[in-house]
Amino acid sequence: MDREEPTGDLDTATCPVAKLDFVNLVAGFGEASSAPSQPANIALCEHGALAIGDAVMVNTRALADEVLRNPAVFSSEDLVEQGNTLPLIPLNVDPPNLVGYRKLLDPLFAPKRVEALEGDITERVNHFIDTFVDRGSCDFTAELAELFPSSVFLGLMGLPWDELDTLVEMRDGLLRPGTKEMTNEERSAIQRATALRVNAYFDAVLDERLADPRDDILSLFAALEHAPEDAEGGQRRLTRDELVSICFVLLTAGLDTVTDSLTCMFAFLAQNPDHRRALVADPHLIPGAVEELLRWETPVPQVVRWTRQTEVLGGVTVTAGNHVMVNIGAANLDPAEFDEPTEVRFDRDVNRHLAFGGGVHRCLGSHLARRELRIALREWHRRIPDYGLTPGYEVTYLPPLRYVPDLQLTWPT
Ligand code: HEM
Repeated sequence: MDREEPTGDLDTATCPVAKLDFVNLVAGFGEASSAPSQPANIALCEHGALAIGDAVMVNTRALADEVLRNPAVFSSEDLVEQGNTLPLIPLNVDPPNLVGYRKLLDPLFAPKRVEALEGDITERVNHFIDTFVDRGSCDFTAELAELFPSSVFLGLMGLPWDELDTLVEMRDGLLRPGTKEMTNEERSAIQRATALRVNAYFDAVLDERLADPRDDILSLFAALEHAPEDAEGGQRRLTRDELVSICFVLLTAGLDTVTDSLTCMFAFLAQNPDHRRALVADPHLIPGAVEELLRWETPVPQVVRWTRQTEVLGGVTVTAGNHVMVNIGAANLDPAEFDEPTEVRFDRDVNRHLAFGGGVHRCLGSHLARRELRIALREWHRRIPDYGLTPGYEVTYLPPLRYVPDLQLTWPT
């Protein structure tokens, strides 16, 4: 591995790193494209690392691991701007503080806790399928993919069904504020106003849960505010600001990602009838299919860090304070890691994909996401086994998270 001795260490107090303004980044990406991302990613993977202005993009599994597993050099601190008034916890926190947060949060999203949501999640996905199954067609994105993960979030947080519109409004105000015609400033203003609303919303619900605890994540969060201090100096008590920030991050990290994954997966299955029929014939393939489609589609195609010191990655120098983009879409097609990476095989024995990231910031919600995706695939194919793209409709993908904005599906009734 090309690695030079660090030079030009950065004074982090005056760190010049540019924040990533996600909203205006999204708006700047422009129109949807029908070109699949995989051929470009295969070419990038062969290329290793690529200089993009002052930043570098790494495209192989080895380089991705090198960046993601070295948070002391490749930092997430204070990186993303989502209109937030509080630091984004745990997304923009580096070790050692991150370790304390993850120690508290990981058990709340562990497989056992998520398993207990099986019945609730199954009911919720069927609720949405009920609304269109007899029609023989749907806008999959609008009628299922955008609503179902938000509704699961309600269940997880112990919020009632009638809060769905509020949650969707808050999500859109943070992640898709305003319209394309608006200026960056106008969009950012909507995002900032929504962030304040989100903070006030969770602040009020945490008060309610403190007064009247239930069996939900928000009640567990509220209890953390009053947990005893850890005698060994570990972090066991969280402030209200920290808790509100965590809720904020869950809202922005946990909703769109599942929406996007669902649209990519169903777009793939609608266009690949052999794969679809295999799932219908043998639902035991579903867990493997979820992993393989996460690898193949990589709905969160990139994660970003900034480097605290000058580094050489794959032969490309990136100086202190600049961004390192980890192209996990390309790393997930790396032949050094995957046999026949361009084959979509639901029965891979080993599938160490990076769709949930890697290293210390690996996705907190991966067990929940997997369960949502598996249940959605299982229930849909049980009820609507034979479907395809609506005639005349062409699939297009929108960056920077990979998703299909208007997936139109049709089936016989
Ligand atoms: C298929 C769906 C999902 C995908 C593909 C996905 C992907 C990712 C990725 C790639 C990261 C790493 C970010 C980084 O390294 O900078 C991440 C982090 C995170 N995800 Fe997910 N995610 C999904 C679903 C969820 C869900 C359902 C939740 C919560 C309910 C969630 C909560 C989080 C949080 C809190 C983090 C930040 C963890 C940290 O910084 O320590 N995600 N996710």
